[in-house]
Amino acid sequence: MKDVKSYVEKWDDEASIYDKKFYNNPISLYMRRINLKLLTDYFEEKHSLLDLGCGTGDEAIVLAKRGHDITAIDISPAMIEIAKKKAEKFGVKDNIDFKTLSIEDLESVKGQKFDGIYSSLGPLNCIKNLNAIIHNMYNLLDENGYLIASVMNRRCMSEFFYYIAKNRFKKARRRLGREKLVVEIGTQSNQIACRFYDVFEFYKLFTDTFKLVEIFSFPIILPPPFSRNYSKIFKRARLVLEKVDEFLTKLPIINLFGDQILGIFQKK
Ligand SMILES: C[S@@+](CC[C@H](N)C(=O)[O-])C[C@H]1O[C@@H](n2cnc3c(N)ncnc32)[C@H](O)[C@@H]1O
Repeated sequence: MKDVKSYVEKWDDEASIYDKKFYNNPISLYMRRINLKLLTDYFEEKHSLLDLGCGTGDEAIVLAKRGHDITAIDISPAMIEIAKKKAEKFGVKDNIDFKTLSIEDLESVKGQKFDGIYSSLGPLNCIKNLNAIIHNMYNLLDENGYLIASVMNRRCMSEFFYYIAKNRFKKARRRLGREKLVVEIGTQSNQIACRFYDVFEFYKLFTDTFKLVEIFSFPIILPPPFSRNYSKIFKRARLVLEKVDEFLTKLPIINLFGDQILGIFQKK
């Protein structure tokens, strides 16, 4: 059947269920915790920050509460609408400038400089030609600022073994190809094409203009976020597993095979 919904409509659909799904999923919450810890470690003082693909605004809100001024963009008007309401509820609406804008149209923010830029949990996987927008990020970033980006990893060990254990061999290999992969967002009827990267491919995209500060992937041994059984494990056992996972992200080689790659870069 012909796909009649536009790309933006699919994300708008997802907006209405995004927070509910996220907060009911302990793996997503773990990923948010790790990601936010890194953002708050790198963006310590009061900064001006640019959030690329902010979704319903959770990270922008946490960072605004810590005194940062944020510009947060997302292609989906419905995501931005929810994010604005949440920012108002948490008393930080004046600290966040939400804009409905595609990361692919970043030139329209030109002239501004940010102390830091971040993009969390996958918006950059949706960009057709990521290489083409890296120079825009470069131009928008202050000299000593950090660019912190997470993208879905092409070499995700937990997903591979999850599907192998279920005898779904084709699915197990789904991320390994270099071509774009059609993935579901939210419901089966909403599918979009994403480009997955491995750690070296992702790093190489930035090497002309940025120097690498740190790169690793996470979570390593936790099941992939879509698996339902993890929430059934006792909370205390989950906390132990998460501690082990956090430790594994520090181990070379092993830390190349998690679900999300997290790269921290600075301008050369
Ligand atoms: C998986 S969500 C991540 C949201 C948020 N960063 C978070 O950590 O919860 C992906 C977000 O990227 C947004 N997005 C997808 N393509 C985009 C684009 N080209 N420009 C801006 N935002 C985009 C979607 O609307 C969605 O809100």
